[in-house]
Amino acid sequence: MGDQAKLSAGGADFEYPILKGSVGPDVVDIRKLYAQTGKFTFDPGFTSTASCESALTYIDGDEGVLLHRGYPIGQLAEKSSFMETSYLLLNGELPSKDELTTFENTITRHTMLHEQLATFYRGFRRDAHPMAIMCGVVGALSAFYHDSTDIADPEHRKISSHRLIAKMPTIAAMAYKYSVGQPFVYPDNSLSYTGNFLRMTFGVPAEEYEVIPAIEKAMDRIFILHADHEQNASTSTVRLAGSSGANPFACIAAGIACLWGPAHGGANEAALNMLKEIGTPDRIPHYIERAKDKNDPFRLMGFGHRVYKNYDPRATVMQSTLREVFDALKVTDPLFETALRLEELALSDPYFVEKKLFPNVDFYSGIILSAIGFPTTMFTVLFALARTVGWVAQWNEMISDPGQKIGRPRQLYTGPTQRDYLAIDKR
Ligand code: ACO
Repeated sequence: MGDQAKLSAGGADFEYPILKGSVGPDVVDIRKLYAQTGKFTFDPGFTSTASCESALTYIDGDEGVLLHRGYPIGQLAEKSSFMETSYLLLNGELPSKDELTTFENTITRHTMLHEQLATFYRGFRRDAHPMAIMCGVVGALSAFYHDSTDIADPEHRKISSHRLIAKMPTIAAMAYKYSVGQPFVYPDNSLSYTGNFLRMTFGVPAEEYEVIPAIEKAMDRIFILHADHEQNASTSTVRLAGSSGANPFACIAAGIACLWGPAHGGANEAALNMLKEIGTPDRIPHYIERAKDKNDPFRLMGFGHRVYKNYDPRATVMQSTLREVFDALKVTDPLFETALRLEELALSDPYFVEKKLFPNVDFYSGIILSAIGFPTTMFTVLFALARTVGWVAQWNEMISDPGQKIGRPRQLYTGPTQRDYLAIDKR
């Protein structure tokens, strides 16, 4: 018998098994707690709760480590491609050359959208936020691909997963095209996943579009950095939605909705807006004071993380990618100087040091994406595009688990106890 955790409650003693993962904190298995004690645990925000067992992604927040299937994010960002990392997340191992070619061909074959989906876009206002369009269109995919929504069938799950990963760039690029009033550009399957996305976004039918290799590489790396991140809010949303047996398109639409929030994927948009508002380095101290003021709701966007209490390893790669993009485009942006100075000042301020608040992946990503040409409203869309593979891999892992149950948290009820209805003239 392994280690046990002891709990005394209501004058009785109980023991709960301690389970060990391959690395990381052990967990106390409290599945029998309610049946044995009549008590629930209370952990709003899941700060001490492992919601599932997973073999996909590991984060050590104190050390600033992020591993996908064991491989460090820095190595994947430098040496892998988004397609290869996607294969790794979905299948557990890096592919052979043939496996990678087959996977790339499969994804490429699914890039087109049902033509009728284009009419969905025309139902949106021109100024609709592209994330609103993404939620709607991705949810609508389930109405178009009935042939792959039997979630009990592994083959169906595989086809849906490939469809989602393949169609996301097309859906995202169309959301952008619609907002700028340009015609949709159909996929060109002779290009890479990322090159194709850049062409569908920035190309126009009237001209040849030339993909700049350095930008294609930078964009692909940004996709790798966002591919998966353990049980974050949107991934947990996808798992919870999927736990009821909902189809994968609906589940991913739910994940997109969650990602949109400024505390999560929306932070890259908020971080760039904040840097624009700060403007010049001389104004930074004022904003740092505001961020520290408990009575001011202002926070340094792109700073802090629920899990990382050290430099987010993705932010390190982002910063070097930013320099590469500036070099390739022969541009610079004064906001980069502001960001660097803000980071320097914040990291030498006791408030940020004591609370272990470091730049996260979103701090630099907005500056890169705007240098490439994306408007701020597209930032979270790009995050959703890349995170789709993580969502799909996590959803598949959950559905394949024979012990999977519907997710159904309980609560600490603090509302009125039972009372009798009063007629309106007696209130
Ligand atoms: N600026 C100023 N103070 C902050 C910041 C910040 N960015 N982040 C946290 N703090 C402070 C909090 O006020 C709190 O102080 P207190 O202990 O005195 O009350 C303390 O640090 C802990 O913060 P919490 O909000 O309790 O931490 P939590 O884990 O719940 O939140 C979060 C993490 C949401 C990321 C938070 O740091 C934040 O809002 N950051 C800005 C938004 C952002 O960049 N989000 C992107 C996250 S990464 C991603 O989704 C890809």
